[in-house]
Parts: sequence; C-alpha cells; structure tokens
Amino acid sequence: MKNASLAMNGGPRAVRALKPGPTKLGREELAELIDLWAFSPANRRKLLAILWSEKNLHGPHLFRYYNPRPSKVLAAERLFAKFIGVEHTLAVNSCTSALIASFRALGIGMGDEVIVPGYTFFATAATVCACNAIPVIADVDDTLTLDPKDVERKITKRTKAIAVVHMRGAPAQMDEIMKLARRHKLAVVEDVAQACGGSYKGRMLGAIGSTGCFSFDFYKILNCGEGGFVTTNREWLYTRAQSWHDTAACWRPNRYASERREGELFCGENYRMSELQGAVALAQIRKAGKFLKGYRANRDRILTALRLPEGVALRRLADPAGDTGVCIVLFLPDVERTQWALKALKAEGVPAGGVYDSEVKDWHIYRYWEHVMERKAVAPDGLPWSGVPKSELPRYRPEMCPRTLDYLSRAILVDVKWSYSAADCRGIAAGINKVLREV
Ligand SMILES: Cc1ncc(COP(=O)(O)O)c(C=O)c1O
Repeated sequence: MKNASLAMNGGPRAVRALKPGPTKLGREELAELIDLWAFSPANRRKLLAILWSEKNLHGPHLFRYYNPRPSKVLAAERLFAKFIGVEHTLAVNSCTSALIASFRALGIGMGDEVIVPGYTFFATAATVCACNAIPVIADVDDTLTLDPKDVERKITKRTKAIAVVHMRGAPAQMDEIMKLARRHKLAVVEDVAQACGGSYKGRMLGAIGSTGCFSFDFYKILNCGEGGFVTTNREWLYTRAQSWHDTAACWRPNRYASERREGELFCGENYRMSELQGAVALAQIRKAGKFLKGYRANRDRILTALRLPEGVALRRLADPAGDTGVCIVLFLPDVERTQWALKALKAEGVPAGGVYDSEVKDWHIYRYWEHVMERKAVAPDGLPWSGVPKSELPRYRPEMCPRTLDYLSRAILVDVKWSYSAADCRGIAAGINKVLREV
C-alpha cells in the first residue's frame, strides 16, 4: 500500500527548510587574531566595538577547498606562480612538507640516495630519511652551496636526486648542478627556503630544477607563521605532489575520478595550507618586491662602505645579480682571528654571527645531525637504513666534509635587514671596518 503522507509520494515534507544558523567561527576568533597584532589599547577597543556591532556576521571558511568565497590559498598560489615564473605552485604547511612532497612526487623511496649539502638546515636531509631514502652528504665550497665536484664524486648507482640548497640568500651553482643532473639522469630539488626571490642568470630560484621548495616560516624572507610552496613546470610532478599533500588526492577538483594514468593516486599525508596562512602568505607575496629592494639596497650600502684588509674575503656568489641580499658572508684567514673578530663585532653592536666553532651545536651543520650520523630509525624496521645493504650505506663521520667545516669555521655572517636606515648601514660598515683593521 502506497503511503500518501510520505513526501516521496506527494505528501508534505517533514522538514521545510533548514535555516543556516550562525557559523562556528565568529567574533571571538577574529578578536583573538586582533590580539595577535599589537594595536594600541584605544584602537583595540575601537576594533572590538566594531566587531561586536556587526549584525549577522558570517565567519570565514578556513578550508581551502570548497570555500564559498574566493580561496586565499588559491590566490596565493597563483600570485606565487607569477612571481617565480612557473606553471604550477602548491601551497603546503612548511618547506619540510614541500621537500617530502617533492621527493614523493619524484618517486623517491626505499633504497634511493639523494645528495644533500653538508651545510643546510637539517630538514633537507631529514626529509630524505622521511621518504625512507638515504641522504648522501657532499661538501660546500666558497659559495656555501653544493660543490659540484664533490657532488659528482658522491653519485652512485642508487642516486636519484640532488637536493641543492640556495643557502643564506644566494643562488647555488645551477649550471654545473643541472649539467651533472642531465648527464646522470638525476632529478634536482631546489631548496629555496632561505633565498625566496633570488635568481640565477635571469631565472628565479625554484624555476630551474624539477621542483622548488619554499619556506614561509617566521624566520624567512616571506612568512605566514608556518607555510611553504612547491613550484614546478611539470604538471605530472604537481599532480603527484598535490596527491601526497592531500592525503590521497582527496580534494582534487574531480575528487572521485579514477586515476588518469598509473602513479596518479596513492596514499599520502595532510600538508594542506589553511585559509588563515593563505591570507597572510598572499599579503606577504605582494610585498616581496619591496622587501627584496630593501635587502639589496642595504647590502649594497654596507658593501660599498667596506674596506676589507688582505686575507679577508667575501663569499663567492654564483650569480651576484641573483643574491637576495639578506646576508653578507666574510671569510677570515683562520679560526682564531674569526673568533676574536666575532667578539669584537658583538661589542661594536654589529649584527654578525659565526657558524661553526666546534663547540656550539648548530642544526645547519651536518656533523651535528646525530639522527643521520648515528643512523637513527623511528621504528623497529630500521628504515631508512635497512633499505640498503649495510656495506653500501654511506659512512658518516664528523670529519667527512673537511672543506665545509673549514669554510664554516672561518665564516662571519652579517645579517642584513630590509628595514635598516642608511645610518644603520653606515654604522654596520664602520663597525666591521674598525674590527677588521685589527685582525
Ligand atoms: C634550507 C632550509 N630548508 C628547509 C627548511 C625547513 O623549513 P620549514 O621550517 O618551513 O619546514 C629550512 C628552515 O629553516 C631551511 O633553512
């Protein structure tokens, strides 16, 4: 018997229309954000009064996919693609995530080797291990970036990629690295965490290798608290990186479609960027030109006023025009004079620091990467180290990259800020000149 009262049989609907209730995110959340910015108490009160006077406030949708309003993350991706000059960008929650997504997109896994520099933030090597692959550590030279000659010596039958790091704001020797990669059929992952906006012979860093990996953490040229981007010109790598960063391509545009070709779908992790980070990243990318202009102008102001005595050298730049200007690196003749100069510079108020004095740990120097040096594993399976016959594992030793340690022990890094005044730059240069005259 047909029940005429059922809506499916023409009866009245039990639920007429569900009214959209208040959103979960509202005034209180925005008030917390206002609190993060240091407003004067009077303006803070005014802002909060406006906030509470708003009727029918609709809170934001902080998930990038299916946002009914235009996504800030998508806008940041598009603007960043334009800025770097690449076809594809993928916003992620850190450069660590960008590196893992890149290695995964390239199909790097158990038994593979990736060459990394002995001077880089530990994440470049740790992310290789996170993919169950083996980091092979190569020397840096007087550019403080990978020494192409040592990279060539470190290539084995297991090598799949070179993770080249544009360290301390300056480009690595990309012609030589790319030539090696082509000759040995290797992928090149550019770690641009410290050099966003830098370039090499007219091409933006992050647009030269297979992928580029950027950090937007609090310390970087552009920042949104925590965040990062993968850049690439290869659609397939973008698709696979998107899959890895999105649990398993859960939210791609045609989310339930079968894979178009083998290798498109696999289980991944969640590295998605939220709309909060996306909004801040978007504003930061718009300011990139202003920041870079400031860094470079202040670097030039300091450099022109420097009078370097014999025996003190500036870091060699693979392409001076592509340096971001965030840092000036000086090499002194020996460790003793470097240590003395560091103390003297500190006393002068010059924002300078050393790198390696063999006592203070620094996660940027390979010899302190205990996790790698002692082949630590997260699980009883012993991966990544158990993925390669013991006799074929690299022999990690504290002194294995002597040139790296030599350069780092004689290096002085002078911090350049985009916001320095001309007088700040004059003072910094005067302080350096005063100290270097005495070394
Ligand atoms: C060279 C380099 N690579 C990778 C990272 C990791 O970046 P994130 O903190 O965004 O994961 C950093 C951060 O300091 C870095 O300096």
